[in-house]
Amino acid sequence: MEITRYSPAVGAEIRGVDLSRGLTGEEFKEVHKAFLDHQVLFFREQKEIPPEVHVEIGKRFGNLHFHPAAPQMEGHPEIFVIHTHRDSKIANGEFWHSDVSCDEEPPLGTMLQLHLLPPVGGDTLFSNMYQAYEELSETFQKFCDGLSALHESEHVYRGRYSDRGVDDAGKVYPSSVHPVVRTHPETGRKALYVNRAFTTRIQELSEDESRAVLDLLLDHCEQLSFQTRFRWQKNDVVLWDNRCVQHHALWDYWPEERKGRRVTIAGDRPY
Ligand code: SIN
Repeated sequence: MEITRYSPAVGAEIRGVDLSRGLTGEEFKEVHKAFLDHQVLFFREQKEIPPEVHVEIGKRFGNLHFHPAAPQMEGHPEIFVIHTHRDSKIANGEFWHSDVSCDEEPPLGTMLQLHLLPPVGGDTLFSNMYQAYEELSETFQKFCDGLSALHESEHVYRGRYSDRGVDDAGKVYPSSVHPVVRTHPETGRKALYVNRAFTTRIQELSEDESRAVLDLLLDHCEQLSFQTRFRWQKNDVVLWDNRCVQHHALWDYWPEERKGRRVTIAGDRPY
């Protein structure tokens, strides 16, 4: 397996492992270490992964997460099909976020393979939330260490998948309060944990203060120097750590089509 850094801020590219066959114990150990070291892994030169193998690889990292809003793949409820085309009303992930941070126990990580790509465009951007925390002044770090924030999803998910047959009448979408700075349970490092999609309010501040501090933090998290931008090739697989990165999927390719499958790994309560 060949692992090379992808950018100064975040990510590594991996060649020499065939995910369509699953992972051996040794391969999993190496991938897991690289995942913790680099936060996002870009697996190149892949074949299409059969859904059951995709699910099996995801389960090596932990239990799988079931999305509160998105439609499930027939026969494989753990798989979320990402599909954007000429008639789509929305594209998944076209804003900076950490997946489903509105859940009480938000996903640890996500593994996405794209099988169909537009001729150009459809890149995914990743931003390093360890670095975002570490580059705040010490005074502001201490201030943020004592804060918690509300993450809501009603405004994100209500009606979002109606064009894919999801009727969400009567459904209650999750919301949760999480620390603004979370400690990664495996590396022990601190990361900023607020994002533009789901985080709506800092609990300990007045409404005006909350808006001002949240705007400052969200702008800060999206700084170019914390980011990398991934240009997909057919069947590439990306595995990202939602506990310490945010991502943004660009929908700059309409009316072209982009399609793939995602497996999401369950996480624990941020602290
Ligand atoms: C997502 O947020 O799961 C979408 C990522 C992508 O489509 O690149």
